[in-house]
Amino acid sequence: FLITLSIIKADTGGFVGHSAVHPDMMAAARHAMDRAVRSELLIDGHVASCGDDVSLIMTHRYGADSQLIHSFAWDTFQTTTGVARELGLYGAGQDLLSDAFSGNLRGMGPGYAELEFDERPSEPVVCFLADKTEPGAWNYPLYKMFADPFNTAGLVIDAKMHAGFVFEVYDLFEEKWICFDCPAELYDMLMYIGAPARYVVHSVRSKTLGETAAATSTQRLSLIAGKYVGKDDPVMIVRAQSGLPALGEVLEPFAFPFTVGGSMRGSHHAPFMPVSVGHAHPARFDGPPRVVALGFQIHDGRLVGPRDLFADPSFDEARHQANLAMDYLRRHGPFEPHRLPLEDLEYTTMPQIQARIANRWTPLPSPPVPATAGRPASAGAAKS
Ligand code: 13P
Ligand code: 13P
Ligand code: MG
Ligand code: MG
Ligand code: MG
Repeated sequence: FLITLSIIKADTGGFVGHSAVHPDMMAAARHAMDRAVRSELLIDGHVASCGDDVSLIMTHRYGADSQLIHSFAWDTFQTTTGVARELGLYGAGQDLLSDAFSGNLRGMGPGYAELEFDERPSEPVVCFLADKTEPGAWNYPLYKMFADPFNTAGLVIDAKMHAGFVFEVYDLFEEKWICFDCPAELYDMLMYIGAPARYVVHSVRSKTLGETAAATSTQRLSLIAGKYVGKDDPVMIVRAQSGLPALGEVLEPFAFPFTVGGSMRGSHHAPFMPVSVGHAHPARFDGPPRVVALGFQIHDGRLVGPRDLFADPSFDEARHQANLAMDYLRRHGPFEPHRLPLEDLEYTTMPQIQARIANRWTPLPSPPVPATAGRPASAGAAKS
């Protein structure tokens, strides 16, 4: 039967700094979630966190962008903000950018990934939660899962996967979207999604099954108070098995700690570290950015689980490499490519600096006319 899986997340206060969510906030969110399940708004729900972001993982029958579900999430985040204020936690209500809820969460600060589907007899799903990075962080792993046969054996040897997948990609700057039919249009797509600060995969669909297999919290950006919002600490849903990538194919891209934009002040490249729920607390240089993977079997809409999928020694080497990569990048300090390019910085002093010293920038003199001017090009060209 048709159900919707929604992950709605927000940072409503950090304990300590931006590193984690306080247990009292988690308890308040769980209490709200239990009530919503008992009142039958939700079929089932699970509260989780990664870093300083709270995620509400919910199954229900209201479809994506439902006013009922979004307003429940908004109210729950107001409650956790209240707890954060009482405890003086850092950035209480950080991601709640509007004073009043109006229909759905678009442009209000919280992020959400939602997928409506006909539940299969067995429905394995993975909920990925990240902190200290942006939605473009999912581009690389989605490409690996659904388009790279060196990652996903099923693309070659599973008859239901061999035809490939369609990727829906958003251009965050120009508010446009496009679908790429892979593998035929793989090289065209990589030209775009290789630039994850601007082009972001929103969903992936199986060509054979006609089913949506993955959805991310890529939203249209909203310009609020001179700052783009909705580009922060993303979540993702991936369905697995039976014509979709196997669980191990879904997790495999994270065995390489590729670099993402985020970490300290949202303004640095740093390795994306797969961790267990207990280790999802970015501390060093507010990083490295973390990702957790919660596995569920959904049955009659019930969330059977979660299993903490990166709590597995086979990801130890990725964590070790992430620490080495962090050492390497950190030594660049304020230099690129550790610090993000000027246009991608989340914090910047450039406008003030420019205003203060603009008049000290002096045009360079025009280059002197070379003494050799007018001689034929070949003369003097040969070196001894
Ligand atoms: P099992 O034999 O353990 O069920 O594994 C099947 C499989 O295809 C794993 O990818
Ligand atoms: P969050 O988006 O996780 O709150 O991080 C903000 C930041 O600036 C960390 O240094
Ligand atoms: Mg924060
Ligand atoms: Mg965060
Ligand atoms: Mg954030």
